Amino acid sequence: MTEPVRLCFVCLGNICRSPTAEGVMRHLVNRAGLADHIEVDSAGTAGWHTGDAPDRRATVEAATRGIDLSRLRGRQFHTGDLAWFDLVLAMDESNRTDLRDLATTPAERAKIHLLRAFDPASDGDGLDVPDPYYGGPDGFRQVFDLLEAACTGLLAHIAADVG
Ligand code: 4NP
Repeated sequence: MTEPVRLCFVCLGNICRSPTAEGVMRHLVNRAGLADHIEVDSAGTAGWHTGDAPDRRATVEAATRGIDLSRLRGRQFHTGDLAWFDLVLAMDESNRTDLRDLATTPAERAKIHLLRAFDPASDGDGLDVPDPYYGGPDGFRQVFDLLEAACTGLLAHIAADVG
């Protein structure tokens, strides 16, 4: 069997945006019957929340959409991840800059993308998934919607190769 495509979603803390993206993408991959072909993970550029469950507000928002984040745990992205993963999906420009600083080869650098670049409805400007950590529940709802659209586009992009 061919190797799976390995995806890692990356935000700052790995407790709000990237674990939500991981949960959404895994749900979409399972639903498409592609779990043997696409592996999904997430990490934070910072290590502050290593070992922590996702933020309760993210878990609650995902649960209302039928997605369970409760068993995910935070971890920090490390340089070796850029060798292991095929696509590294940054939530915002700042995450992408931090990831690029970790790349040791042009091939590793080429694996790093803004996740929302895969959303066919995004216009190419302002591709950040905004950080909802210091806001209210509305932010988490908006983030979930952005992630769902972007992950749907990402899956269509990958499924064309692995399906
Ligand atoms: P995330 O959100 O990057 O989407 O997980 C944040 C979580 C925690 C912090 C910042 C952003 N923090 O400062 O602890």
